[in-house]
Amino acid sequence: PFDRAAIDMEAIDMEAILGGRRMRRNRRADWSRRLVAENRLSIDDLIWPIFLIEGERQRVPVASMPDVFRFSVDEAVREVEKAAAYGIPAVALFPYTDPALRDPEGSESLNPDNLVCRAARAIKAAVPQIGIVCDVALDPYTSHGHDGLMEGERILNDETVAQLVGQALVQAEAGADVIAPSDMMDGRIGAIRAALDRSGFGDVQIMAYAAKYASAFYGPFRDAIGTSKTLVGDKRTYQMDPANSDEALREVELDLAEGADMVMVKPGMPYLDIVRRVKDRFAVPTFAYQVSGEYAMIRGAAERGWIDGERAMLESLVAFKRAGADGVLTYFAPAVAALLSGR
Ligand code: PBG
Repeated sequence: PFDRAAIDMEAIDMEAILGGRRMRRNRRADWSRRLVAENRLSIDDLIWPIFLIEGERQRVPVASMPDVFRFSVDEAVREVEKAAAYGIPAVALFPYTDPALRDPEGSESLNPDNLVCRAARAIKAAVPQIGIVCDVALDPYTSHGHDGLMEGERILNDETVAQLVGQALVQAEAGADVIAPSDMMDGRIGAIRAALDRSGFGDVQIMAYAAKYASAFYGPFRDAIGTSKTLVGDKRTYQMDPANSDEALREVELDLAEGADMVMVKPGMPYLDIVRRVKDRFAVPTFAYQVSGEYAMIRGAAERGWIDGERAMLESLVAFKRAGADGVLTYFAPAVAALLSGR
């Protein structure tokens, strides 16, 4: 066995090596660690994505996302009231559309009384102080599960953009404060900005899913909105290749030039290098989406006792701050807000 006493420390000049420099001094006590902390996660950094479902008094669990539910509008209002009481700045709305309402054109996306629009109106009326982010993309509404219109196997760009403009307008009309296009069609930010401005929605902000990757980490989300079984093929002709990084900067540059007020990188944890590059290069409000699969990994491992779920949650979230994100979309928002507020 190894004998530490046998190591000749006389021959190793620790004083020369250290020269009085000891990094551990600052880490010695809790007060000191808190004092030298460079980044801090705050409730102000959180956007809470919530899933919606038709009906009343419904809270339908999402099997692959422990403690995540699809809420009917009345329940969503109650939950958003709680989120606002914690000081969570904003929520993002995602509908589970009744399969009977899905068609190849995603027509329901243009219905001013669709689930998202009704939820936005109800939340705006009950909780006017919270920001409402509405996702723009056709996938919750199409029978094929794609974000755009299809012709054969092809996803049509400009035709899709026209419909996304319509979708953004019905959402703005319903009270969306932030339009968040997640579809990755070319030119949609500029088109939506122009249409919002012409229609009297000049104050509605745009948060562009600017660098959105074709990721395996969206799996549980697709369960939640009911597209995992219906999706035909994959989204690689519009979402980005995970191998690319310069391309993300170009996407962000274009979205900013077209009028995005805020940009987002998605997924989060595997793409922190992209968050950092975007923040350093453009110095604009930059968000990261800790997506469903990231949430599921942390919760799944914690359930098995393989990691400490609470610590992993906090560590993953402060990592976004360290990477330069101004805020994070996370399913952990209510849990982390409860923790940070000491309630
Ligand atoms: C849809 C959309 C997706 C997510 C947000 N908006 C899924 C996808 O592109 O297939 C994923 C969010 C998550 O996984 O938590 N355009």
